[in-house]
Amino acid sequence: MRLEPPEKVSQEQITIDVREIEPLLQAPAMELPAWPEAMIKMRDGRILYIRQAKLEDVPLMLEYMRKVMNADHDFYDIVGARVYAEILGWYRSRLKDPFHLIGTFDGVWAGLANGRVMNEDVAISLHTMTFARRGRIGYAMYYAKTYYALEILKCKEWWSTFESYNGWRMAGLEMAQPTYPWPEYQHELGGARVYYVTKRYWDQALRNFCPQMIGSDLTFDVPDEVRKANEVFKLPEEVVV
Ligand SMILES: CC(C)(COP(=O)(O)OP(=O)(O)OC[C@H]1O[C@@H](n2cnc3c(N)ncnc32)[C@H](O)[C@@H]1OP(=O)(O)O)[C@@H](O)C(=O)NCCC(=O)NCCS
Repeated sequence: MRLEPPEKVSQEQITIDVREIEPLLQAPAMELPAWPEAMIKMRDGRILYIRQAKLEDVPLMLEYMRKVMNADHDFYDIVGARVYAEILGWYRSRLKDPFHLIGTFDGVWAGLANGRVMNEDVAISLHTMTFARRGRIGYAMYYAKTYYALEILKCKEWWSTFESYNGWRMAGLEMAQPTYPWPEYQHELGGARVYYVTKRYWDQALRNFCPQMIGSDLTFDVPDEVRKANEVFKLPEEVVV
């Protein structure tokens, strides 16, 4: 827009440092407690180590996600593309209060679960993915991020939506999540239904989710040897989804 100034001015141009623009574009970060490392024994006996992703993991995460989004089955393409944008959104400070949990077997990336904090009361589930199938890795990852939102961040509600049949079955069906009326409530991922877990429902019904679905529970008691085995983050050699 342009308008003539209604007064004589000493300088017609004002230079703006981009550092002054950035605070207007970036959402100021909330102070959030970190996800403490955790692990869970999977059905095949392997230990899935779950930690919070670090910014230095991002280049490798993006490299792998570029490959995963080429898989045009079971919604890996749309979820891969969206997850790529979410990781980049975090890296470039264009996502408000995101968190990314990564699950690894001996350092090799096997699962991802991410979300973001909308406000003190509501956390949003973004996506869950597994890169090694038939192991219920997605179940463990989704449970871990729900635990983070409701137990560690102490949000009152956790809002999800599901873009794939396997995702819906993993958490919409198996956690028997109710939905808010649609279209009054729309999830930020594509405007679909909001499925939600309240803290009260979590306390009442979901404590036993991992033992029931996976056969063992998530633990934050991680021995040194597991931590050491997962010290170096590695990508799977190929995409096998
Ligand atoms: C959704 C997701 C995270 C679920 O995690 P998961 O249960 O650990 O995932 P899997 O894909 O290994 O298994 C899901 C089901 O798919 C089916 N399945 C998977 N691979 C299969 C194969 N090769 N042949 C036949 N069925 C297969 C099985 O029914 C399996 O259930 P089961 O393990 O109880 O037998 C995972 O499927 C995924 O990453 N999907 C792509 C991304 C996505 O859709 N994310 C969710 C967005 S809402």
